[in-house]
Amino acid sequence: MFSRFKKNEPAAPRQTTAPVGSAAPVAPSQPKPTAAPQRNATPAPQAAAADVIASDKERKRKEKLMELKVELHKRLLDNLNLAALESATEASLKTEIADIASEALTEMSVSLNAADRAQLNQELYDEVMGLGPLEPLLKDESVNDILVNGPQRVFVERKGKLELTDITFKDERHLLRIIDKIVSAVGRRVDESNPYCDARLADGSRFNCMVPPVAVDGSLVSIRKFKKEKLRVGDLVNFGAFTEEMALYLQAAVSCRLNIIVSGGTGSGKTTTLNALSSFIDNDERVLTIEDTAELQLQQVHVGRMESRPPNVEGKGAVTQRDCLRNALRMRPDRIIVGETRGEEVIDMLQAMNTGHDGSMTTIHANSARDGISRLENMVAMAGIEMPLKAVRSQIASAVNLIVQASRLQDGSRRMVSITEITGMEGEVISMQEVFRYERLGVEPNGKIIGRFNATGVRSHYSERFRQWGFDLPASIYEPIV
Ligand SMILES: Nc1ncnc2c1ncn2[C@@H]1O[C@H](COP(=O)(O)OP(=O)(O)OP(=O)(O)O)[C@@H](O)[C@H]1O
Ligand SMILES: [Mg+2]
Repeated sequence: MFSRFKKNEPAAPRQTTAPVGSAAPVAPSQPKPTAAPQRNATPAPQAAAADVIASDKERKRKEKLMELKVELHKRLLDNLNLAALESATEASLKTEIADIASEALTEMSVSLNAADRAQLNQELYDEVMGLGPLEPLLKDESVNDILVNGPQRVFVERKGKLELTDITFKDERHLLRIIDKIVSAVGRRVDESNPYCDARLADGSRFNCMVPPVAVDGSLVSIRKFKKEKLRVGDLVNFGAFTEEMALYLQAAVSCRLNIIVSGGTGSGKTTTLNALSSFIDNDERVLTIEDTAELQLQQVHVGRMESRPPNVEGKGAVTQRDCLRNALRMRPDRIIVGETRGEEVIDMLQAMNTGHDGSMTTIHANSARDGISRLENMVAMAGIEMPLKAVRSQIASAVNLIVQASRLQDGSRRMVSITEITGMEGEVISMQEVFRYERLGVEPNGKIIGRFNATGVRSHYSERFRQWGFDLPASIYEPIV
């Protein structure tokens, strides 16, 4: 029956891939939440009763399917020759799984309709070859982030808003098995002594997990989906992230090799903005990128990408962003792009910006341009550099030219809320001027924020430089709408 992928011998119990829900023992599974919270007002009693019956039926159907899946998955693992799976094509493997499942269902005297059967077969395939319940979300283009809070609660972010999905794992062990599959693929392990891990999925998505007992109510997983088609400057303008005038200004700033910091909160679009800005870099420049998880996709010909590496299980072999940055300085870069400056690499970043690698860029986690500067100061202090504050500030002031602030607003939209230039030092204080900002004017009844981008009326501190480099921006772009 199971021609190519079936084992020759009847299977002895095996540990290579455990069946659904049979990984290392951890915290007990949680009670299943009944249903997603209802937003609308209470419906009429009869309708409500009908709803309850319907949702109860649906829940039972799902539970039954889940039980079947567990049983079939066990049988699959006993019957499939896992070594042969490597070379199997997707289509042949799917046919094989469908055959095994169908035979098992007949044996168990279970009949399913075509839709349930197709769904079951797909889920079984995802369990064997992919990341189980996460697979449909990974394939869903509209999903940006996947956030798992224990086995029974899987959230996704669509259009900047979080939604609870009806996807669940059978129990904590099932979730742990999927986590284990991901981290072992990159040579890492998570357990009680190493309870968290960063990794990259095969498709490039950024993955982070934390398992019990540190994660109190079950494992926590966050996945930032990798987009093959990154948002370009034109897309961002179309989405209202910034205006064409601001894009013109940013083009001049990047082309004239200003050092730029993109500042913003989590998921505010910093990396996306950095990636879009990089499109203004000339094709004949040598660009080196350094990231903890490689996310940037530069379009230039001459790009060298580096990814830092955490220590191995024995605590050895770490290559930090700082190590990469120091090495990068010996690699004749024209520009250096650091995905996110969050620690001691700040020193080398500022030095690189100050010493001939102008046009470098990075992102930083901060809520405003001023905050961003304080973050830089703190990072320098925490890196153990004993320097008077004034010296640190003057280093920052001469290194950084521009701070672009990205923000995710309450309605889920992501906007460049401010573009601020650093103009020098006044006494002990770094002086700055905001050139463009997003002005909030109100809120629509549906919660959508009404606002507009505006110039502040200040002419760019770098306009002379822009002109000399051939970017003679019209004075009108600095004129505010009143
Ligand atoms: N202006 C935008 N409009 C719509 N979607 C956007 C916009 N900017 C970014 N996104 C999407 O938002 C998600 C988060 O963006 P991004 O990874 O750039 O954020 P980040 O600030 O770098 O996050 P983190 O702090 O986690 O590194 C991505 O999926 C991206 O495609
Ligand atoms: Mg990022």
